[in-house]
Amino acid sequence: MNSEMEKDILKVLVTEEELKTRIAELGEALYKRYEGHRPLFLGVLKGSFIFMADLMRASQLMCDVEFIAVSSYQNGTVSSGRVQITHDLQQDITGREIVIVEDILDSGNTLAFLKSYLMAKGAKSISIVTLLDKPSRREKAVEADLSGFVVPDEFVVGYGLDYAQLYRNLPYIGVLKPAVYENT
Ligand code: XMP
Ligand code: MG
Repeated sequence: MNSEMEKDILKVLVTEEELKTRIAELGEALYKRYEGHRPLFLGVLKGSFIFMADLMRASQLMCDVEFIAVSSYQNGTVSSGRVQITHDLQQDITGREIVIVEDILDSGNTLAFLKSYLMAKGAKSISIVTLLDKPSRREKAVEADLSGFVVPDEFVVGYGLDYAQLYRNLPYIGVLKPAVYENT
């Protein structure tokens, strides 16, 4: 393959096959934890949408799905630290067991904010599943209950993650060539 997107990729960090294998394991872990319950899978838009689709199928649970959108990035690669809800919950979550589905845990600002927001809305429990974890950049003490892959401190794209809204539809996780940033 040599698509328009692929020519901007410096290297592949997580292959399509590795994603598939790991997500099957995460799904199984969720099944063990929530079998007989009815958790609400809450995806953090937009980055989690592809992971959500694969994870909820891998879990084989009786579950609901919901999305919330927050923003702390301004089309760039550095977090502003401030988290804002841009699309709120569309249902009452009082007493619900929530599984937050996130693309990447970076500074922790987003998930620290969401955890307290959901508790304040009456959630019964919250667990965090993140596809990727960049522990080297943590500012807030927040940990995932389940994490797919630990990644180094590089800006990654693909499988839902974007740079300036592009590359979400790459089937793997990759790192962009520096020239791509320099030109925008
Ligand atoms: P925080 O810093 O709040 O960040 O833990 C979480 C959100 O920041 C975005 N993010 C990235 N997006 N490549 C991306 O495409 C990255 O390397 C990256 N690092 C952080 C992401 O939206 C995540 O939900
Ligand atoms: Mg995100």
